[in-house]
Amino acid sequence: MKIFLVTGAAGFIGAAVARKLIDEGHKVITIDNLSTGYQDAIPEGVEFFKGDCQDYSVIKQLEKFTFEAIFHIAGQSSGEISFDDPVYDLQTNAQSTLLLLKLAIKTKCTNFIYASTMSVYGDKPDRPVKEDTELNPKSFYGVGKLASEHYLRIYSEYGIHSTSLRLFNVYGPGQNMDNLRQGMVSIFLAQALKNKHIVVKGSADRYRDFVFIDDVVKGFIKAYNSNKHGYKYFNLATGIKTEVGEVVEKIKSNLPFDVTVEFSGATQGDQFGIYADILKVKKELDWEPSVKLNDGLSKMVHFHQGL
Ligand SMILES: NC(=O)c1ccc[n+]([C@@H]2O[C@H](COP(=O)([O-])OP(=O)(O)OC[C@H]3O[C@@H](n4cnc5c(N)ncnc54)[C@H](O)[C@@H]3O)[C@@H](O)[C@H]2O)c1
Repeated sequence: MKIFLVTGAAGFIGAAVARKLIDEGHKVITIDNLSTGYQDAIPEGVEFFKGDCQDYSVIKQLEKFTFEAIFHIAGQSSGEISFDDPVYDLQTNAQSTLLLLKLAIKTKCTNFIYASTMSVYGDKPDRPVKEDTELNPKSFYGVGKLASEHYLRIYSEYGIHSTSLRLFNVYGPGQNMDNLRQGMVSIFLAQALKNKHIVVKGSADRYRDFVFIDDVVKGFIKAYNSNKHGYKYFNLATGIKTEVGEVVEKIKSNLPFDVTVEFSGATQGDQFGIYADILKVKKELDWEPSVKLNDGLSKMVHFHQGL
């Protein structure tokens, strides 16, 4: 049995990755500070260490394990929140990565996968973004994630094979419906279910690339399996441009009641529009998204409606 460290397994993506590894018969350990995650969401069988990934006294407890791989997924995932407290953002998203890379060195774990983000790119012209485009993050969140990517690149020179997955807008069952400041689809759906009214911060013609959680989990597993040398980085997205207004309409059409919509204000540091070029990830990781937005949204709406 192999032992994996999956940070953030009380959260949306970490729980899904941990569940997949448990289902495959592995042992999974997680660190989570429950800042946005829930202890109940940690999949059964996962060994849980409560605490901050940026706290050495927490990380130190893991030095006794020999990890097959480390998936660093814990983090605060909102550009907006990074403006409230940029220092906390740096600690939670960048310092944590450094400490975990040091743990990897200490425990001789040579396989490290990181949950990075499309926010490392900043505003780009209206065409699919390739991985090697210039990086100009607009939020402290994007800066912290980019710093982490560079830590991975540097540590790869010391024997830690590492991969950053630049996740675009991930959605699906299990996404946090209580946090109205992170996750575009979950914010809209949560408002619709609670108030039958959606307030969209920003215009309807902004656009994103929405990728379903099951496809993202497959991407993490493929990255782990092919993480044999050096440092690599990939977009994890569908390559499909979808306007925000269109997502709102699709959510509405999946609900059995009427929902009103209001467009007002804006979110600090928000990218106007972004979608990915996914040729590199298709070719080098042999990964391809399989869930269409309509099908994914329908699964998510049914899951959360039933809660
Ligand atoms: N969901 C997306 O669309 C998306 C897009 C790009 C990148 N990401 C990245 O993926 C990761 C997971 O996102 P998610 O959507 O599952 O968010 P989430 O909030 O559901 O999960 C994050 C988990 O990490 C925990 N956590 C946060 N900071 C921590 C810390 N310093 N130490 C220990 N635990 C901590 C939280 O309690 C939570 O359980 C994040 O790093 C995020 O930046 C997510």
